[in-house]
Amino acid sequence: MPKIRISDGVVKDEVLVVGLAQKPGKNALVIETSATALNIKALLEMLDDLGATGKVDEVIKAPGTSTRLIVFTGLGLAQDSYGHEVLRRAAGAASRALAGNTGATFALPTRSKEEVAAVAEGAGLGAYAFDEFRGSSAKERKAPLRNINVHVKKMDKAIASSISERTSIICEYTYLVRDLINTPPSHLTPDSFCKKITEAAKKSGASGLKISVLNEGQLKTKGFGGITAVGQGSINPPRLLQISYTPTKNLSKKRYAYVGKGITFDTGGLALKPALGMEAMKSDMSGAAAVCASVIAIASMKLPIAIDGYAPLAENMVSDKATRPSDIITIYGGKTVEVLNPDAEGRLVLADALVKAQEVKELDAIVDVATLTDAQVVALGTRTSAVMTNNQGASETFLKVADIAGEAFWPMPLPVELRASLDSPVADLANIGERMGGMLVAGIFLKEFVKEDLPWLHLDIAGPSYNEGKAHGYTPVGGTGIALRSLVALAESAAL
Ligand code: BES
Ligand code: MN
Ligand code: ZN
Repeated sequence: MPKIRISDGVVKDEVLVVGLAQKPGKNALVIETSATALNIKALLEMLDDLGATGKVDEVIKAPGTSTRLIVFTGLGLAQDSYGHEVLRRAAGAASRALAGNTGATFALPTRSKEEVAAVAEGAGLGAYAFDEFRGSSAKERKAPLRNINVHVKKMDKAIASSISERTSIICEYTYLVRDLINTPPSHLTPDSFCKKITEAAKKSGASGLKISVLNEGQLKTKGFGGITAVGQGSINPPRLLQISYTPTKNLSKKRYAYVGKGITFDTGGLALKPALGMEAMKSDMSGAAAVCASVIAIASMKLPIAIDGYAPLAENMVSDKATRPSDIITIYGGKTVEVLNPDAEGRLVLADALVKAQEVKELDAIVDVATLTDAQVVALGTRTSAVMTNNQGASETFLKVADIAGEAFWPMPLPVELRASLDSPVADLANIGERMGGMLVAGIFLKEFVKEDLPWLHLDIAGPSYNEGKAHGYTPVGGTGIALRSLVALAESAAL
């Protein structure tokens, strides 16, 4: 974790980061910065010679004058003030490009404390690396930035420290989500997932956190048929992790349940997935990671809201013990499901956990987060997640909060006519239905396990959770940490 500071002092670091924007027309570069005493004219001439464009994700390093290096990070089209996400990404792109340096001062154009926070967050989120499993090649790697200094023209000390505190928490727990996703199934099982979360909760020092874990035997006797069925084909037995936060000082305004899909590896089970691309299924616990990390983050921020986090964890494997197509299972609470496709396993473990979560009296809302369907990726691509709901108002509120947090979500419907496709000739429900609109069908399946009058959000993050392309902005290759910031922001707003 880098150290993140906000200061209005003179720049002492060896590296200065400023913004570069473009105005329509020729030779129309604009340097956008909070730093003064730069020879703008000379710099613009140099940038022109270098062929700089100021486009988003362009980072140009040049010898500095008062600092060793000056780094220009693209802001796109010149604006009077820049969007928070533009600033976050520009800071992130520079931060990534500066791996190998110890520290840098980010002097991007900021006018409000929210803009300062966005720069700090982008810089922090960009300074991530996952090198835990590099052996002989570790030495060749450039370490991410260790010191991030966000330069502001003027700022109240208390505000500055509250921004750096919140940003540090967001970054630390986004890193945790990314680490968990990037950790391969050889090193991340349902059991070790629980241990890692327990360790992280202890290490946080946050008060009001309580963790409990149900093991395979307990899951079976208590009737968690979904988690049991999905996990029974693996030598690494399933778990149901619960991590709850109850505010110790402030009275809690509300009580939310967060439920995250925790498939530590999804082979597809007996509906075995093709080999090509199967490695990405180590990311199938992204929802669980985001949920658990967000609860620790919320506790660390001492927010006045109670949260119950649930992670149904299982490894979906192929074996003589694996669930067969046509097997019938009983979800916690009594509904039966005919498992027509063992690769539609996420909804089975989520159903168990959703029912369990609703045993808590006085819940104000329930949110599930899952890498649930390939159809999500087909519909919205790899950078936009989906939100489905039984409560329009809750969805609209969430979309606003997520947008401010810098995470892209898009509303998707749950058309009633698709429900019939989930009818089974032998059980209450089949686990697959109409193929077209598969993301919505999965949502409709989950809806069967949620009380009608409880505001519920279903977040399908299949595409955005794992970046198989190039790094961009503050987003690295591999686990992205998506949903963590929205879950924290939702708790901060306590608006549902
Ligand atoms: N984990 C997958 C969904 C997924 C696909 C996540 C790609 C991330 C990237 C899920 O368990 C799955 O296999 N879903 C099936 C459901 C189908 C059998 C109804 C799918 O989407 O193909
Ligand atoms: Mn699957
Ligand atoms: Zn899955």
